[in-house]
Amino acid sequence: TSVDRVFQSNGKVFFGTASDQERLIVPQDAAITTSDFGAVTPENSMKASAWEVIEPVRNAFDFTASDYLVNWAGEHGKKIRGHTFVWDESLPSWVSSIMDPPTLTAVLQNHIRQIMTRYKGKLYSMDVVNEHIADDGSIKSTHWTRVLGNNVFTLAFQTAREVDPTVKLYINENSLETNGAKVRGIIQLVKSINKNGELVDGIGSQTHLWATQLVQPALAALSSAGVDLAITELDIVYAAASDYLTVVNACIAVPRCVSITVWGVRDPDSWRASKDPLLFDKNWQPKYAL
Ligand code: XIL
Repeated sequence: TSVDRVFQSNGKVFFGTASDQERLIVPQDAAITTSDFGAVTPENSMKASAWEVIEPVRNAFDFTASDYLVNWAGEHGKKIRGHTFVWDESLPSWVSSIMDPPTLTAVLQNHIRQIMTRYKGKLYSMDVVNEHIADDGSIKSTHWTRVLGNNVFTLAFQTAREVDPTVKLYINENSLETNGAKVRGIIQLVKSINKNGELVDGIGSQTHLWATQLVQPALAALSSAGVDLAITELDIVYAAASDYLTVVNACIAVPRCVSITVWGVRDPDSWRASKDPLLFDKNWQPKYAL
């Protein structure tokens, strides 16, 4: 039976997976994604690091890879979690060299508007901000916050909201399950952004786990932010069946947790491939009964 259908029957929105064209052109991958998952997230094609792919030169957009994923999702009835705009990793040098606030503001707004306009009406959610909380819970110093200050968050959320008000806008973060200071920091940031309007609809918890880590306490604590919660990039290094089940049950137990996305289908395609962290093995066989 489909993991997604079982999860939805517990009142949740979807159980999805990261994907992209290079995965979906493989028939076994497409078959599993079609039958088991209710949503896809572009693993790379729509993200900040793909500014190099999607906007390699200022205002020259190439949507080939992200279009493939979005069209596939439409044809197969899958929801889409968009990912991501304000991130500090792998920015092309034409972006990371802009030190002038008005220019960087214009560049960020144009980038967000182009992508949100192209996929208007097609996205369930979007990770507007990714990985901007430091380990001590403060706001991270990144190219974005150094040039634009903490106003960059409200600016980015407002810009996305204006183009497509139907999309649930998320702030996405790692290590929340192991770091209480980050949990408190992200709750504070969400509340401060939402003082400027209803902008942040959800907190994404990436949930790149080692097998022994529990996620329910952090999800319960994050509920006090008053927004939706999603497990957005789940993978579990050296997991046993019970470890995946524990995460699924944690989301089911926390009313504000709406969805789970695993970060890929099959172990060898994972960004942590050497540690076999996904639900399917190299022969596309399911490893866990959920
Ligand atoms: C990773 C992808 O899985 C890799 O293919 C890519 O080379 C680097 O990015 N946090 C995130 C994701 O928000 O976008 C990252 O994805 C993993 C960490």
